[in-house]
Amino acid sequence: MSKITAAITAVGGYVPEDVLTNKMLEEMVDTTDEWITTRTGIKERRILKDPKKGTSYLAIQAAKELIRKANLDPKEIDLVIMGTATPDMPVASTGVHVATQIGATNAFSYDLQAACSSFLYGMSTAAAYIESGRYKKVMVIGADKMSSIIDYTDRTTCIIFGDGAGAVLMEPNTEGLGLQDEILRSDSIGRDSLNIEAGGSLIPPTEETVAKKLHFVRQDGKTVFKFAVSNMAGVSEQIMKRNNLTNEDVDWLVAHQANKRIIDATANRMHLHDENKVLMNIERYGNTTSATLPLLLSDYEKKFKKGDNLIFASFGGGFTWGAAYLKWAYNS
Ligand code: UT7
Repeated sequence: MSKITAAITAVGGYVPEDVLTNKMLEEMVDTTDEWITTRTGIKERRILKDPKKGTSYLAIQAAKELIRKANLDPKEIDLVIMGTATPDMPVASTGVHVATQIGATNAFSYDLQAACSSFLYGMSTAAAYIESGRYKKVMVIGADKMSSIIDYTDRTTCIIFGDGAGAVLMEPNTEGLGLQDEILRSDSIGRDSLNIEAGGSLIPPTEETVAKKLHFVRQDGKTVFKFAVSNMAGVSEQIMKRNNLTNEDVDWLVAHQANKRIIDATANRMHLHDENKVLMNIERYGNTTSATLPLLLSDYEKKFKKGDNLIFASFGGGFTWGAAYLKWAYNS
């Protein structure tokens, strides 16, 4: 009997309509379009303005798009893994609400929080379930309403992040397609460099924590940048070597969209000189945290051919990071 691998068989994506441009940010904080563009590659981001809608709304839209495109009966879904750093609420899993709302009534669901690596870690978990034969249809979602945790008076963070969601369906494959290999890592050396200090069990929210704005994202950009470049590029190079892949063999780099300079550094380490192979949507969406990787898949799906070699790479708060090698399983 041939080995079972876990392949991506459908994708969906969603970004909200409202656009926050660099020009608009110039009116809000002491920054310029030129600074943001040259330092990050970002031109604009999407913002979910409706205060009554949380991350689940974004995730539901992405999942519904997938279901519609794949003509999938949601009752067949076994599991929904919801990657997010911005759950609707700290308790009451966001994934459970998403699964119910999309009609995945025979599935179970939970949230997976690994900051910007949530989706990559989720893909790994889904693959392990599928390879073992335990489940057959696993949806992995990456979604974040970053605007809900951003201080729009802090120019070091508000220029970076945006809202969005992406979803993939993973299913068993017997042709050798799908996930081939992965290198996943974490290190709490980054715990103080990128976090939300208050609101958890360590520092529960009080009037004082809110007054001090400790419920917003805070990052030491320079430190995060340094670790992101060395670690994300490092595992990407390592996964190529381990699988005997040359730059010619790699068809697409699907890298976390935090900063164009970090993505370029990763592509350079991989000797990927053809910039068409380096998927990019940071210019339009900024850093959508858990959503960047599945949103890239959704945006570029039509370009992928069955058998193409994709390298995924991510880096996020914690720190968490990793790379994965996946063979694309279908032609659109
Ligand atoms: O997705 C999770 C992982 N996150 C990341 O990977 C983010 C990694 N970090 C970064 O992408 C970059 O560090 C940032 C984009 C956040 C910052 O870029 P940088 O080139 O590292 O800038 P910097 O923090 O070294 O700041 C350089 C200068 C400083 O001024 P001085 O001290 O040189 O006078 C900052 O105060 O730029 C100033 N600055 C700004 N100027 C205009 C910082 N933010 C801004 C801004 N507009 N928005």
